[in-house]
Amino acid sequence: MKKIVSKITGAVGNRIMNLADAVIDRKICGRSLVKYVPSIYRDNEKGIGGTGSQSTHYSILKRIFSHVTLCPEDVFLDIGCGKGRVLASLIREKSPCQIFGIEHNGDVGAMAADWAERYENVHVIVGDAFDLDYDPYTVLFLARPFLPKTFAAFLEQLEGTLKHPVTLIYWCDQESGHLLKNRPGWNRLFREKLAWIHGLRIAWWPQYYSIWTYDPE
Ligand SMILES: C[S@@+](CC[C@H](N)C(=O)[O-])C[C@H]1O[C@@H](n2cnc3c(N)ncnc32)[C@H](O)[C@@H]1O
Repeated sequence: MKKIVSKITGAVGNRIMNLADAVIDRKICGRSLVKYVPSIYRDNEKGIGGTGSQSTHYSILKRIFSHVTLCPEDVFLDIGCGKGRVLASLIREKSPCQIFGIEHNGDVGAMAADWAERYENVHVIVGDAFDLDYDPYTVLFLARPFLPKTFAAFLEQLEGTLKHPVTLIYWCDQESGHLLKNRPGWNRLFREKLAWIHGLRIAWWPQYYSIWTYDPE
């Protein structure tokens, strides 16, 4: 019974938040970023690949970024930026830094690149996160773009190439965030469980996010 109530309240909460999000999207991006686009590469059995393009709700992003201060010198990157909701949220919050997103689904990335063109400090790279040099960036954001095995490979690559400290924000970390634990150089600053926001259930079950620093020294 409890599960059914969670499912119904989760679905209602999402529906209401999507309606509110679409209004904000249209103001910032000139179009809605709500529609879900399935993953182009996902092998659940092997636990490899990327997730689909689901935009994080503005209310959740506002909550997450209330714990992060972005300075003009920062270079922010959303890894797996989808249609660009995180970028739009940072524009909405008047973040003073350069804002980047990378997305490997060509159609989805092209849509983000198209609306972002009107903002001088926002840049969308259409390509694979595994082909990127992470050294120009100081703050990395992930909204669970990878299945766990792919996330493990991503961490290995990141650690092997980064030459300076970064902050990493991991939204929906419950499936693979444990891979960051007890890893040399990684330090968890904060973690929060989110179940409700503004009286609305955010999903069928609670989601977690965590904020980390990584120092290659
Ligand atoms: C759950 S969506 C998050 C979208 C956006 N960050 C947000 O929070 O609104 C994850 C995105 O990561 C992308 N992705 C997965 N693997 C990727 C890779 N190797 N390189 C670039 N993008 C990837 C997916 O195509 C998808 O659009």
